Amino acid sequence: MVLKDTQAVIGSVGLVPSVIPWGVIDELRPPTMPLHYQTSPEFGLFWGILPDYWGNGYATEAGKAFISWIFDTLDAQRVVATTEHDNRNSQRVMQKLGMAVYTNVHKKPFWFEVLGVLANPK
Ligand SMILES: CC(C)(COP(=O)(O)OP(=O)(O)OC[C@H]1O[C@@H](n2cnc3c(N)ncnc32)[C@H](O)[C@@H]1OP(=O)(O)O)[C@@H](O)C(=O)NCCC(=O)NCCS
Repeated sequence: MVLKDTQAVIGSVGLVPSVIPWGVIDELRPPTMPLHYQTSPEFGLFWGILPDYWGNGYATEAGKAFISWIFDTLDAQRVVATTEHDNRNSQRVMQKLGMAVYTNVHKKPFWFEVLGVLANPK
Protein backbone atom coordinates (compact mmCIF):
# COMPACT_ATOMS: atom_id res chain seq x y z
CA MET A 1 0.00 0.00 0.00
CA VAL A 2 1.45 3.38 -1.01
CA LEU A 3 0.16 6.94 -0.71
CA LYS A 4 -0.75 8.30 -4.13
CA ASP A 5 0.81 11.72 -3.64
CA THR A 6 4.19 10.73 -2.12
CA GLN A 7 4.44 7.03 -3.03
CA ALA A 8 5.39 6.40 0.64
CA VAL A 9 4.90 2.77 1.66
CA ILE A 10 2.39 2.76 4.54
CA GLY A 11 1.36 -0.87 4.94
CA SER A 12 -0.04 -3.90 3.20
CA VAL A 13 -3.21 -5.79 2.53
CA GLY A 14 -3.12 -9.36 1.28
CA LEU A 15 -4.54 -12.82 0.93
CA VAL A 16 -3.72 -15.93 2.98
CA PRO A 17 -5.21 -19.41 3.24
CA SER A 18 -7.43 -19.22 6.32
CA VAL A 19 -8.57 -22.30 8.25
CA ILE A 20 -12.05 -21.68 9.67
CA PRO A 21 -13.80 -23.89 12.26
CA TRP A 22 -17.31 -22.72 11.36
CA GLY A 23 -18.98 -25.02 13.90
CA VAL A 24 -17.81 -22.97 16.90
CA ILE A 25 -19.76 -19.88 15.82
CA ASP A 26 -23.09 -20.37 17.58
CA GLU A 27 -25.08 -18.14 15.20
CA LEU A 28 -23.89 -20.11 12.15
CA ARG A 29 -24.43 -23.63 13.52
CA PRO A 30 -27.89 -25.18 13.10
CA PRO A 31 -29.56 -25.33 16.55
CA THR A 32 -29.76 -29.12 16.48
CA MET A 33 -26.08 -29.56 15.62
CA PRO A 34 -23.60 -29.96 18.52
CA LEU A 35 -20.49 -27.82 18.77
CA HIS A 36 -17.78 -29.20 16.46
CA TYR A 37 -14.29 -28.28 15.30
CA GLN A 38 -14.22 -29.30 11.63
CA THR A 39 -12.51 -26.72 9.43
CA SER A 40 -12.60 -25.55 5.83
CA PRO A 41 -10.03 -23.48 3.90
CA GLU A 42 -11.13 -19.96 2.96
CA PHE A 43 -9.85 -16.83 1.21
CA GLY A 44 -8.44 -14.94 4.21
CA LEU A 45 -7.56 -11.24 4.21
CA PHE A 46 -4.89 -9.51 6.27
CA TRP A 47 -4.12 -5.83 6.71
CA GLY A 48 -1.44 -3.86 8.50
CA ILE A 49 -0.73 -0.11 8.51
CA LEU A 50 2.25 1.72 10.00
CA PRO A 51 1.00 3.35 13.26
CA ASP A 52 1.70 6.91 12.07
CA TYR A 53 -0.97 6.44 9.39
CA TRP A 54 -3.74 4.81 11.47
CA GLY A 55 -7.22 6.33 11.49
CA ASN A 56 -7.27 7.66 7.93
CA GLY A 57 -9.38 4.87 6.47
CA TYR A 58 -6.44 3.44 4.53
CA ALA A 59 -6.93 -0.21 5.58
CA THR A 60 -10.61 0.05 4.72
CA GLU A 61 -9.95 1.70 1.34
CA ALA A 62 -7.33 -0.89 0.37
CA GLY A 63 -9.44 -3.76 1.73
CA LYS A 64 -12.44 -2.65 -0.33
CA ALA A 65 -10.41 -2.45 -3.55
CA PHE A 66 -8.74 -5.80 -2.89
CA ILE A 67 -12.03 -7.55 -2.12
CA SER A 68 -13.51 -6.27 -5.40
CA TRP A 69 -10.52 -7.71 -7.23
CA ILE A 70 -10.83 -11.06 -5.43
CA PHE A 71 -14.55 -11.31 -6.23
CA ASP A 72 -14.20 -10.16 -9.84
CA THR A 73 -10.99 -11.98 -10.77
CA LEU A 74 -10.94 -15.14 -8.63
CA ASP A 75 -14.72 -15.52 -8.37
CA ALA A 76 -14.31 -16.36 -4.69
CA GLN A 77 -17.61 -17.32 -3.07
CA ARG A 78 -16.67 -15.26 0.02
CA VAL A 79 -13.74 -13.72 1.87
CA VAL A 80 -13.01 -13.93 5.59
CA ALA A 81 -10.81 -12.13 8.11
CA THR A 82 -9.89 -13.17 11.64
CA THR A 83 -8.52 -11.30 14.63
CA GLU A 84 -8.28 -11.30 18.42
CA HIS A 85 -11.03 -10.22 20.85
CA ASP A 86 -9.08 -7.11 21.86
CA ASN A 87 -8.18 -5.94 18.33
CA ARG A 88 -11.04 -3.46 18.05
CA ASN A 89 -9.39 -1.57 15.19
CA SER A 90 -9.31 -4.63 12.95
CA GLN A 91 -12.90 -5.51 13.90
CA ARG A 92 -13.89 -1.96 12.97
CA VAL A 93 -12.25 -2.38 9.55
CA MET A 94 -14.28 -5.59 9.08
CA GLN A 95 -17.49 -3.71 9.92
CA LYS A 96 -16.65 -0.84 7.58
CA LEU A 97 -16.02 -3.36 4.78
CA GLY A 98 -19.57 -4.66 5.27
CA MET A 99 -18.49 -7.97 6.80
CA ALA A 100 -20.69 -9.86 9.24
CA VAL A 101 -18.58 -10.10 12.41
CA TYR A 102 -18.89 -13.14 14.70
CA THR A 103 -17.28 -13.98 18.04
CA ASN A 104 -16.16 -17.43 19.16
CA VAL A 105 -17.53 -17.48 22.71
CA HIS A 106 -15.94 -20.87 23.38
CA LYS A 107 -12.41 -21.42 24.71
CA LYS A 108 -11.38 -23.63 21.75
CA PRO A 109 -9.67 -23.42 19.37
CA PHE A 110 -7.55 -20.91 21.31
CA TRP A 111 -6.35 -19.30 18.05
CA PHE A 112 -9.85 -18.54 16.72
CA GLU A 113 -11.50 -15.53 18.38
CA VAL A 114 -13.24 -13.13 15.97
CA LEU A 115 -14.36 -13.83 12.40
CA GLY A 116 -15.48 -11.45 9.64
CA VAL A 117 -17.28 -12.85 6.59
CA LEU A 118 -18.31 -11.16 3.35
CA ALA A 119 -20.18 -13.08 0.63
CA ASN A 120 -19.63 -12.38 -3.06
CA PRO A 121 -22.81 -10.51 -4.10
CA LYS A 122 -22.73 -11.97 -7.64
C1 LIG B 1 -6.18 -2.64 12.05
C2 LIG B 1 -5.48 -1.58 11.19
C3 LIG B 1 -4.95 -2.23 9.91
C4 LIG B 1 -6.50 -0.50 10.83
O1 LIG B 1 -5.89 0.40 9.88
P1 LIG B 1 -6.44 1.89 9.65
O2 LIG B 1 -5.93 2.34 8.33
O3 LIG B 1 -6.15 2.72 10.85
O4 LIG B 1 -8.01 1.62 9.54
P2 LIG B 1 -9.15 2.74 9.56
O5 LIG B 1 -8.56 4.09 9.35
O6 LIG B 1 -10.22 2.27 8.67
O7 LIG B 1 -9.64 2.74 11.08
C5 LIG B 1 -10.26 1.62 11.68
C6 LIG B 1 -10.55 1.97 13.14
O8 LIG B 1 -9.34 2.06 13.87
C7 LIG B 1 -9.54 2.95 15.01
N1 LIG B 1 -8.35 3.79 15.13
C8 LIG B 1 -7.15 3.30 15.51
N2 LIG B 1 -6.24 4.25 15.57
C9 LIG B 1 -6.83 5.38 15.22
C10 LIG B 1 -6.35 6.71 15.11
N3 LIG B 1 -5.09 7.05 15.36
N4 LIG B 1 -7.23 7.64 14.73
C11 LIG B 1 -8.49 7.31 14.49
N5 LIG B 1 -8.99 6.04 14.56
C12 LIG B 1 -8.15 5.08 14.94
C13 LIG B 1 -10.87 3.63 14.82
O9 LIG B 1 -11.81 3.01 15.66
C14 LIG B 1 -11.22 3.32 13.36
O10 LIG B 1 -12.60 3.22 13.14
P3 LIG B 1 -13.46 4.54 12.68
O11 LIG B 1 -13.05 4.87 11.28
O12 LIG B 1 -14.88 4.11 12.78
O13 LIG B 1 -13.10 5.65 13.65
C15 LIG B 1 -4.31 -0.91 11.98
O14 LIG B 1 -4.80 -0.50 13.23
C16 LIG B 1 -3.11 -1.84 12.17
O15 LIG B 1 -2.25 -1.95 11.29
N6 LIG B 1 -3.05 -2.50 13.32
C17 LIG B 1 -1.91 -3.42 13.59
C18 LIG B 1 -1.94 -4.63 12.71
C19 LIG B 1 -3.19 -5.41 12.90
O16 LIG B 1 -3.70 -5.53 14.01
N7 LIG B 1 -3.69 -5.96 11.79
C20 LIG B 1 -4.83 -6.85 11.82
C21 LIG B 1 -4.40 -8.19 12.29
S1 LIG B 1 -5.79 -9.27 12.43
